[in-house]
Amino acid sequence: MQVQFRTEPAQDARFIAYIVDKAAVPADMEKAIREGAAAARFTGAAGQLFDGFAERNGKTVRIALAGAGKPNSDDRTEALEKAGAALAAKYSTSGEKTLTLDVAGSSLSAEEVASVLLGLRLRSWRHDLYRTKMKDEQKRTLENVTVVGAPDGTEAAWTDAGHVADGVEFARDLVAEPANKVYPESYVERCQEKFADTGAELVILDDDAMEKLGMDALLGVGLGSERASRLLAIVWRGGKDGDPFSAFVGKGVTFDTGGISIKPAAGMEDMKWDMGGSASVVGGMLAVVKRKAKANIVGVVGLVENMPDGRAQRPGDVVTSMSGQTIEVINTDAEGRLVLCDALHWVQQEYEPVRIVDFATLTGAMIISLGHEHAGVFSNDDDLTDGLLAAAKESGDKLWRLPLDPAYDKLIDSPIADMKNVGPRGAGSITAAQFLKRFIADGTPWAHCDIAGMAWADKPGRTWGKGATGYGVRLIDRFVANSVE
Ligand code: BES
Ligand code: MN
Ligand code: ZN
Repeated sequence: MQVQFRTEPAQDARFIAYIVDKAAVPADMEKAIREGAAAARFTGAAGQLFDGFAERNGKTVRIALAGAGKPNSDDRTEALEKAGAALAAKYSTSGEKTLTLDVAGSSLSAEEVASVLLGLRLRSWRHDLYRTKMKDEQKRTLENVTVVGAPDGTEAAWTDAGHVADGVEFARDLVAEPANKVYPESYVERCQEKFADTGAELVILDDDAMEKLGMDALLGVGLGSERASRLLAIVWRGGKDGDPFSAFVGKGVTFDTGGISIKPAAGMEDMKWDMGGSASVVGGMLAVVKRKAKANIVGVVGLVENMPDGRAQRPGDVVTSMSGQTIEVINTDAEGRLVLCDALHWVQQEYEPVRIVDFATLTGAMIISLGHEHAGVFSNDDDLTDGLLAAAKESGDKLWRLPLDPAYDKLIDSPIADMKNVGPRGAGSITAAQFLKRFIADGTPWAHCDIAGMAWADKPGRTWGKGATGYGVRLIDRFVANSVE
């Protein structure tokens, strides 16, 4: 989406959109538009849209009114994003090529205009790579937005928002890609392309390197796959020399069949997005790196494919993690925690971060608890949690805290090893979090975000359609800006 800024609408503008506050259709709008909007019960509620036509200078002009709700509401940013998203949802494939967004008569600030543009851009993202027979009316046509009458500073605000959009789009692309296209090695290549010339350093560990380090928990998950496994770290030194690191860690299971504890066939295709946590991390890193965040940050993703095979690990196998702790693998489908535990240990050993936040599509139980409205957050530190919850509210990537407790931790004790990789049926998301906690050094603030219900959407939301959401990217970006920089 190309965005231009002008002071006056172009002479040939045939499609003009206005952002309209609740009950405030501009009085100077043509009578047909005012009366048409009233007849269509357009009130200016957030995300509501009116589509009409008017005659201007003897030419027919298409007029869109996008509702932004009440100007002083607490969720103004969300409402403005929804207004932009509503425009994208309706006109992306409408045949219109250029939208003129006229904000001259509005009271929107530079940041508020940028919010409308962000909603427009994020909602017009699509993944049509493999559709070779799309009809013309299915193809995206809307590529240009001309903003008219925006206040000073809007271009700069849009540049900032654009970095966030780059991160969200990168995360969505990775999540949407099928597992025959995005697997550990190709995933790393895509990151190498994306982060080339950004100033970030990429550290890549292959199977041999991980074996030397003793990462048998992570490597055990990939044993049944023909694909090699990878650990990827994206290192950003935007802080001062000697400033401590903050770490983000992501589960990147590029496909999860369940392994020998194989999943049922119905819906298994969803497990191409079992790398959604890693996408949050690499997308979040892209956003903070592009805006040159003034902090030292490392994003680590564990990339493996979980397949059943003669060489795959078996239920009952005992593996030794990099930390030295041993794990009885009761269920090969509880693989995410096996990947994360080695990634978490490695990042602590290499970077001694002062805070760690991990993202993972870890448990189906998370969807049972919170559905598709919030991700769950589990943490050993109240300050870190408060920072994340605040960033979640501001960014729209919603989070809800769930408990950790030694009583849950006991549930994963094993008779043969230091722990087993699953607990009983109840509290499945919590016992998974307790498992991860065993790999965090005492005193290090850590939070685990279980995003199983958030990486993929079956219905359109705030700034996304059906499919990959890019959840977590905006959360990371906000959290870094608020609590790390
Ligand atoms: N990737 C799944 C969790 C998942 C399920 C995410 C559905 C998104 C949608 C994870 O690896 C898994 O299989 N977890 C098991 C754990 C169980 C074996 C303890 C689960 O949730 O069933
Ligand atoms: Mn699994
Ligand atoms: Zn999984």
